[in-house]
Amino acid sequence: MSIDIEKIRKDFPILNQNINDKPFVYLDSAATTQKPIQVIEAMGIYNKLSNANIHRGAYTLSIRATEMYDEARKRVKEFINAPYDESIIFTKNTTEALNLVAFSYGLENVNSGDEIVVLISEHHSNILPWQMVAKKNNAKLKFVYLNDDYTVDMKDFKEKVTEKTKIVAAAHISNVLGTINPIKEIIDYAHEMNAIAVIDGAQAAPHTKVDIEKLNADFYAFSGHKMLGPMGIGVLYGRRELLEKMGPFLSGGDMIEYVEEESSTFAELPYKFEAGTQNVEAAVGLKVAIDYIEEIGIEKIKNHEMELTKYAMEKMNEIPYITIYGTKDIDKKSSVISFNIENIHPHDVATILDSYGVALRAGHHCAQPLMKYLGINATCRVSFYLYNTIEEVDIFIESLKNVRKWLGYGS
Ligand code: ALA
Repeated sequence: MSIDIEKIRKDFPILNQNINDKPFVYLDSAATTQKPIQVIEAMGIYNKLSNANIHRGAYTLSIRATEMYDEARKRVKEFINAPYDESIIFTKNTTEALNLVAFSYGLENVNSGDEIVVLISEHHSNILPWQMVAKKNNAKLKFVYLNDDYTVDMKDFKEKVTEKTKIVAAAHISNVLGTINPIKEIIDYAHEMNAIAVIDGAQAAPHTKVDIEKLNADFYAFSGHKMLGPMGIGVLYGRRELLEKMGPFLSGGDMIEYVEEESSTFAELPYKFEAGTQNVEAAVGLKVAIDYIEEIGIEKIKNHEMELTKYAMEKMNEIPYITIYGTKDIDKKSSVISFNIENIHPHDVATILDSYGVALRAGHHCAQPLMKYLGINATCRVSFYLYNTIEEVDIFIESLKNVRKWLGYGS
């Protein structure tokens, strides 16, 4: 059974407008997704009727807001099949979640001479925190490279992970190549070598079933705004035994048990890691976004996206001057396609496509080490989600064919 695309399109008013006098074709969901009206309205209703600071008041509205926040946490836990509510920590985004792990776990547990292993295809947010830990604690940061088909070279991975490795940091799905990494194998091998596995799930949680119990990741991070929710809310799942031993990342309001002049003790999980006033409105939005995704079904969403991806790749492969960076094996791929047009800068491609109403991302995609490894400076990237259509892919392909003409190439 396929998804009801007409019904879905009606839920996303932003997509039903003209941009540059053309029907808007939004192909940048890997950067941020659009929000259905249900999410927008739920946040509006929260602000109209339920807004109060949580954990602060004995009054009804504060209790109600606290319950809504806790309910959102429960919903996230169920969505990723995590074992406990208190192993779900709300952050600002994936970047903050990964920084939390680096500061609270990494700095305390990685020592001089130890090693941290990351994939070359990582987003900067899963590289820079580890560079910081390695620099501060005199540890070594090692990169795992790719096979010719842009998949992770698991032979290289197994050579790089040694008994000195304390942390393996890897994305579940690459935000540039769209490759679904063999994340279970990566996590299991990290554990075999007594390292912990920190997984960037920003591009995976919106598009594929994440099952924490099965994956057995130590930490798993993702963002609300890439899965139909609002910006300003992210999630860190952490193994409870590890979280319990870790000190806080940020300190101040709401994360304490007792504070004395010279010292303090901290609140229990998850509050120890949620300092200051939280983004309750965004948590409410995220809960409704998860409801929306689950009502349709993540498998159906995935099938729809992959139909679009397959179709787009077939059409792009017919154009001789296009290079696609990513595996051709559709089973190892998510709905992200990075590409370049021969002799044309990706920013020119994006600007020309914008005039056709098509929004895509151009640049290094926060993955400069990967760009350098591939010997390029930038790519164009399209990324699909449940609300995109085959007609939109056709508009994208037709616009793409016009790019070289615009720049005087004749074809
Ligand atoms: N991380 C986001 C992307 O890949 C912003 O576009």
